[in-house]
Amino acid sequence: MPPHSDLPLLERYRDLLAHLDETFAISLGEGATSLIHARRLGAELGLDRLYLKFEGTNPTGSFKDRGMVLAVNRAVAGGAEAVICASTGNTSASAAAYAAAAGIPCFVVLPAGKVARGKLAQALAAGARLVAVEGNFDDALEAVRQIGETGDAAVVNSVNPDRLEGQQTGAFEIVDALGSAPDAVALPVGNAGNITAYWAGFSRYADAGKTDGRRPRMLGFQADGAAPIVHGAPVAAPETVATAIRIGNPASWAGAVAARDESGGLIESVSDEAILAMQSRIARTEGIFCEPASAAGVAGVARLASEGRLHRSEVVVCILTGHGLKDPDIVVPDAAALTVPPDASAIREAMRR
Ligand code: F0G
Repeated sequence: MPPHSDLPLLERYRDLLAHLDETFAISLGEGATSLIHARRLGAELGLDRLYLKFEGTNPTGSFKDRGMVLAVNRAVAGGAEAVICASTGNTSASAAAYAAAAGIPCFVVLPAGKVARGKLAQALAAGARLVAVEGNFDDALEAVRQIGETGDAAVVNSVNPDRLEGQQTGAFEIVDALGSAPDAVALPVGNAGNITAYWAGFSRYADAGKTDGRRPRMLGFQADGAAPIVHGAPVAAPETVATAIRIGNPASWAGAVAARDESGGLIESVSDEAILAMQSRIARTEGIFCEPASAAGVAGVARLASEGRLHRSEVVVCILTGHGLKDPDIVVPDAAALTVPPDASAIREAMRR
């Protein structure tokens, strides 16, 4: 029997995650996200068993909450009086929320002008102190790591091992839901923490005897303009519409390469056009609104399926890492409402257009 999903995430998997007698005071109800059988999209792509794990239903709307809950609980237990992170947006939204629940200040360092509006709103609403830097995420993370060394604040980026530990729970939940590991797991790659965590999670679950021992191929996708792992060299000026993964020198680079190679998987890149087209297609075929970065993994799967590199009967899980509402400006207003008088005939007329 899989662990009961009514329990807080860290209690549910405490046999794997917790230290002896460790208690977790803070929870916002993270995890237990849906694994949705994408019947219509799967049929279009030629995949009968395509699943979407929608991480947008986490408390702050992204997968970051899985690791943040563990990182902030441990930071507080260890006496931290503040937390700090660099972020393309989601980490800061999550850190701000958990720090608020812990009653400690949160400092976030962001690439100026490159963070989606919803994510900024979340961090501000939770009372985080925002500092924008004239640089990209990689520059921000470098500075935050230096500040972390002084001990002024606990760093809650994925360079903090508790973050990646907590993110392993995404893999545990997939195995619990399917009864076994899928054939392949696809996800976007930015700072490369999540692909590292998922692979560690599948391996750990297998090693702990919680599965039949099978592990999936890990399929990572970067954006064409921010694809350092694909090129095998850092990208000095990464650019992509998917600002969440606008990263040129990922901290968990080695972990991502290990996940790819040990699993027999791959890391490739997809274009911004393919990302935006897939974001809209997921919403229109499955009713799930994810953010652009999340669609990168599905865009990659679509290509692999069309090239015969994924087979119809394979169980493929795509991680939809964040909610579409975080980045409302990206949805072009081509379907914006017509404004008409408030009467039935005018509305009927507009419906025909
Ligand atoms: N998808 C979303 C929605 C993200 O926010 C991120 C990373 C990723 C995918 C990539 O995950 O970095 O583990 O490879 N966002 C970080 C942030 C960088 O600051 O919020 P990764």
